[in-house]
Parts: sequence; structure tokens; C-alpha cells
Amino acid sequence: MTASIAGIGAYVPETIVTNDDLAKIVETSDEWITSRTGIRERRISTGEETSDLAAEAARRALAAAGVKAEDLDLIIMGTSSPDCNYPSGACEVQAKIGAVNAAAFDVSAACAGFIFAMNIVQGFFKSGIYQTALVIGAETLSKVTDWTDRSTCVLFGDGAGAAVLKNEKTGILDMLMGSDGTKGEALMCKSRTLGNFLTGTKPEIGFMTMDGQEVFRFAVKRVPESIETLMKRNHMEKDDIRYYVLHQANERIVEAVARRLKEPMDKFPMTIAKYGNTSTASIPLLLNDMVEQGMLKDGDKIIMSGFGAGMTWGAVLLEWKQSV
Ligand code: ACO
Repeated sequence: MTASIAGIGAYVPETIVTNDDLAKIVETSDEWITSRTGIRERRISTGEETSDLAAEAARRALAAAGVKAEDLDLIIMGTSSPDCNYPSGACEVQAKIGAVNAAAFDVSAACAGFIFAMNIVQGFFKSGIYQTALVIGAETLSKVTDWTDRSTCVLFGDGAGAAVLKNEKTGILDMLMGSDGTKGEALMCKSRTLGNFLTGTKPEIGFMTMDGQEVFRFAVKRVPESIETLMKRNHMEKDDIRYYVLHQANERIVEAVARRLKEPMDKFPMTIAKYGNTSTASIPLLLNDMVEQGMLKDGDKIIMSGFGAGMTWGAVLLEWKQSV
């Protein structure tokens, strides 16, 4: 038995912010952003918190799966921008959707969070402990973005995606995860700094910082490596893989991965142009788009790959079963 996607859902805030809108607040241009990243617009929350976006995506995933909230055994949410340090975002979603029988917690693996969450569920399914789970990737990165820093503020967006997983015969065929904490400074958002009555200072709150080129190098090495590892150990050729569903960080990263794998771009669907980089939400948002467009059919094999701060990376080889 293995984790199968029974239903998928997504939700993004209504407000669209275009590149031209950003050019009014920092020195940038639509041409620079589009040519370097592929991003044309993104959604920015004007009131909804991460857990609000997550709960709506969760409701939609449950409806698509035909599963009741009270039937969930487990809720795992990947997020780097939860509403609170505690309770976890997953617990807040649990309360909002009424999943009274679930255990709920968050995973902190940045843009790889959704993949890490799926892999943790797979562990519980394989051991027979749980049968039905909800995995969520949700972010309001707009609140950790420094809106005066043009090198990062043009990249990110808010949004959420969720999937209901069931323990079935068809689904995840293999998965992997990895981390390299020594490169943590390449992409970082400090929590409160130390400050108390002994230091005589007040805690400060940090914003996201990034060494873009270091992240680029990391991604174009680790992503193809992970994909090739999964194919090799499952005795699959490139023709066996229908789509590569990559974290939507940057169009140029996706293109570089495609070149390294010697695969055509039409096997790499993208949503980066309309949502920007939504971190851990990007993979379920993309999957939801693919389902809505009828791109997936029974038996299709896809590889999902997430990568991000930590550094962290994870990949899932999945056989699609059209229960959604
Ligand atoms: N508009 C106009 N100019 C800009 C902007 C902007 N928004 N941002 C930076 N610049 C300028 C810089 O100031 C610099 O100017 P200078 O030459 O006068 O000093 C110039 O553009 C080049 O800056 P670089 O940072 O070297 O730009 P680069 O070509 O590396 O592109 C980018 C930046 C797109 C972020 C690139 O490094 C990249 O693709 N990195 C991958 C990382 C990534 O995509 N991260 C997303 C989040 S991480 C994740 O999801 C895992």
C-alpha cells in the first residue's frame, strides 16, 4: 500500500500585483523581472493569513476527494510563514475545517515542505498507522518580504495548495529527501533575534535574505540529481516520465534543469508567470492547475521535486490515479 492523491485543491488571494505595480515601489521593470524569472504577476494577501488560505485549499481538496474532515487521521502543513510560532498552522487549519480526529503539525523545510510532508505521510501509511491524510503547502510570504529590497521582493507570492492522501494500491512509487545545513545562509529569514532582560535589547524580527546565485547553483545541481536517482533506482527511462512537476522558483531554474536532463520544456508545466514563487505552495498549486486542465491520466508517472532554504530538497515519483 502507498500514498495516493485522492483530491487536490488550491486557493490564492484575490489581489493581483503585476511587475508594473512593483516598478512603482522599487527600481525595477517588467522587462527585468520577466526575463530573469519568468514572473509576470503574483497574488498578495490584503487580509487573509496563511491558515485562512490553507483552510480554503484544504476544503477544496476534501471536496475533490469526497472525504469528510472528520475522517482525516493526519494533517501536515509545510510553511515558512505560519500565523504563529504556536499553535502550528496545521492545528489552526484543523480547527477551521473541523478535522476533530486528526493529529496535526507543521514541517519546516521551506520550498521543499510539501514534498517533505508527503514523504512523512508515506512513512505513516507504509507502517499502517494512518490511512487518510491531508498535506498542505501554504504561505503568506508577503509578510516576511522586505518591500524595499528589489532583489527579493519581485520574486515571491502568497497562496496555498492541499492534497488529500489515501493509503491505496497505486500512488507514490519512491521518494527521497536531503538537506545541507552548511549552506543555510544562502536563503534565510531570521525569527526573533535574542533579546531579554539580561541582554538589555529587544528582540527584532527579520526579513528574507537571499544569495540568488548560490540558490541557482544549488537547485540546478540537486534537482536533476534527485530526478535521475529516482529514475535509476526504479529502472525507468525518460520516456516513462510524463511530467516533471518542479517547485516554481524561477523559470530559468526550470529551463536549466530541463537542459541538464536533456528533456523538452513541454514536460515541465509552469505557473510561475501568474503566481510567482509561492514556496511550499507552488507544487500543489501547479498540480491543481494540471488537474483542472485535464493534463493527467491514469497510469501517468510524474516526478515532483521541491528545493529550498535549509538547504533542503525532496522528490516524489508518483503514478497518477484519476480519483480526483
Ligand atoms: N530589478 C532590476 N534590477 C535588479 C533587480 C530587480 N528586481 N534585482 C537585482 N537587480 C540588479 C542588481 O542590483 C544587479 O545590479 P548591478 O549589476 O548594478 O549590481 C543586477 O541586477 C544583477 O543582480 P544579480 O543578483 O546578480 O542578478 P541575477 O542575474 O543573479 O538574477 C535572480 C537574480 C533572478 C534572483 C537569480 O540569481 C536567480 O535566478 N537565482 C535563483 C534563486 C531564486 O530564484 N530564488 C527564488 C527563491 S529561492 C527558492 O525558491 C528555492
